[in-house]
Amino acid sequence: MPPAVAAGRLRGRSVLSDLDLDPADVTDLLETAAWLKALRARHIAHPYLASKTLGLIFQHPSTRTRNAFQAGMEQLGGHATFLGASESQLTRGETLTDTAAIMSRYVDAIAARFARHADLETFAAGASIPVYNALSERYHPIEALSDLLTLRERFGGLRGLKLAYVGDGNNVCHSLMLEATAMGLAVAVATPAAYRPATDVVAEAERRAVLSGGSLLLTNDPAAATTDADAVYTDTHESMGEPENAAKRAALAPFRVTSALMALTAPDGVFMHCLPMHRGEEVDAEVADGPRSIVFDQAEHRLHMHKAVLLLTLG
Ligand code: CP
Ligand code: NVA
Repeated sequence: MPPAVAAGRLRGRSVLSDLDLDPADVTDLLETAAWLKALRARHIAHPYLASKTLGLIFQHPSTRTRNAFQAGMEQLGGHATFLGASESQLTRGETLTDTAAIMSRYVDAIAARFARHADLETFAAGASIPVYNALSERYHPIEALSDLLTLRERFGGLRGLKLAYVGDGNNVCHSLMLEATAMGLAVAVATPAAYRPATDVVAEAERRAVLSGGSLLLTNDPAAATTDADAVYTDTHESMGEPENAAKRAALAPFRVTSALMALTAPDGVFMHCLPMHRGEEVDAEVADGPRSIVFDQAEHRLHMHKAVLLLTLG
């Protein structure tokens, strides 16, 4: 067992946003996830959560997050139950807090994907067990943690790396900014002026950068953000639950990650995307499927990081 598990700093805690985690927590999660990855690679059983059950409640579709939680819980020796929010009594007026209180009587922790972060907070207030944010419109914390794991493995460390995010200042952008600045990265975010990250998230990321020795640059110039970057990250231009918005699509079109943009990075710069990706929209296919793309490593690392979250909070 890595020392982080024994130390128990995360035991019993929820992860609703990146604000719930400090750099020591993130380091514990990264080390535990790397250890769990190595165990799985060597086919060594690790049933540390035998007899525990994870409940999942999702309002939006999911491929990675749902599978990573469910497969991860099984690999840790536990069980997972899934409830589509549209199949629950939430559709008939049962309250979020009642639902959370009842699920808390059945399971040991809950992964929740609600469209609105405020709903996640209300739900968590009704729960008596750890609740994990499986994505809201404001944050996607376990995605960002998994992405840090990918960067750490690729480059051998995090401090001093330059991470460029190019596109919509959305949930994934928020979580990346918060986690990466906390861990000492130089973060450059290029968005259209109308689609910048939220002001309070920017302020918190700036505060974190000061504490860690990292930095944060906001720009509307993708080339400025990408120059000398170790990693260029983008996400869909239209998030789940967002109405069709032609003006937004037009504003984001110049922020597509192209080979020309990737030519500005550091020589071993990589391309990242949380997925699902839309080739020809936020990224060109030749970048998405090219030799510098590490998107499937990111997707794999969701599994190891979700398991680390489960083990450290429930172990
Ligand atoms: N990246 C991510 O969260 O993917 P899913 O929506 O498939 O879970
Ligand atoms: N920003 C995207 C991320 C999907 C994983 C969304 O919210 O739909």
